[in-house]
Amino acid sequence: MKRIPTPSIFLSFLIIFCGIWHTYADQSDSTASLRELAGKCDLYIGAAVTPERMQRDSQYRETLAREFNLITAENVMKFHILQPQRGKFNFAPADQLVEFAREQNMVQRGHSLIWHHMGTPDWVTKGDWTREELIEVMREHIHTVVRHFKGKVKYWDVVNEAIDPEKSHGFHESVWYRIIGADYIDLAFQFAHEADPDVLLCYNDFGGERLGKKSDAIFELAKGMQKRGIPIHGVGLQMHIRTHGYPEPEDLKANIARLGELGLQTQITELDVRLQEPVTQEKIERQAERYQEILQVCLESPTCTAYILWGFTDKSSWIPGFFKGYNDALIFNREYQPKPAYFSIQRTLMNHLQKENVRSH
Ligand code: G3I
Repeated sequence: MKRIPTPSIFLSFLIIFCGIWHTYADQSDSTASLRELAGKCDLYIGAAVTPERMQRDSQYRETLAREFNLITAENVMKFHILQPQRGKFNFAPADQLVEFAREQNMVQRGHSLIWHHMGTPDWVTKGDWTREELIEVMREHIHTVVRHFKGKVKYWDVVNEAIDPEKSHGFHESVWYRIIGADYIDLAFQFAHEADPDVLLCYNDFGGERLGKKSDAIFELAKGMQKRGIPIHGVGLQMHIRTHGYPEPEDLKANIARLGELGLQTQITELDVRLQEPVTQEKIERQAERYQEILQVCLESPTCTAYILWGFTDKSSWIPGFFKGYNDALIFNREYQPKPAYFSIQRTLMNHLQKENVRSH
């Protein structure tokens, strides 16, 4: 006699089938690149890059084009590289990046027009300028650079790291502040807007991620600029962090929300999570959690439009040169193998997409 399958056997088949399907679906999803997933989440996922490495390292180029939809110039769009001598502009290295971004259909971010001594050539910092002369230097630089990249750069960091809440006047004592005064910031944004009225203009800084003195000062700066009619469209939070502590996700979220209330985009512009040597598996896992936490906040914040890393492979990072005893801050190792941080970003993007799909049905 033929046995008729009972409902429980049906159920078992169903469970096994669903299990197999789910495993398959998981695997096929997990081959999606960060770029594909972030695109579906309407998010820019980016990395700071250098043309020197781009030229000589095909794995670098391939990984970059596969995993990211935005690039930032780590150094070659800074003042001292673009205009090493007065009136002598050197656009070649930056043009290489812009061309790569165009070929690979990526967004180009410009970093940065005005910084303090680190990004500014000696002929500017050591010059004996009157206020009017230095304003003219700034105008010439910004006009020439922004016009050169018009239509090719979507966002500019117009002013980088101008605020110092520890100073009584609240500003970093750069040549710009010393000779022009605090309104150099307004002027820089105005000049950039004159040169390209369509480009989106950001103020970029470190240590302003959580609610506190520095982020309050950034918020007040942006609010004041808006009141004075100065074009500003976004704030960049650099986010060079370690595995523990700063910034707490809730704090970061509240900070992004209040900038959003001013109508400003927030971008995570320079994220890396440095590890103290010796690097252990536990630290690498904790690093993955930090990358995940920050991304989660960005995805949950409607005005957070970009999640950008300061590099992407441990083969090329500013960290060991600047922080003695720290290393391995990025999401690919030196052989371009994805680290747990890569997978935590991938999972977070996938989970976000699943939740959004559920919500839209
Ligand atoms: O290219 C020269 C090389 O020819 C020379 O042999 C070598 C000797 O030291 O120096 C090389 O230049 C270095 C350059 O990085 C490229 O590696 C400079 O000395 C060094 O000062 C420069 O550091 C950069 C730093 O900004 C200062 O401009 C870092 O790469 C870059 O990651 C860092 O980026 C900044 C952001 O712009 C703003 N936010 C903080 C972030 C980290 O400091």
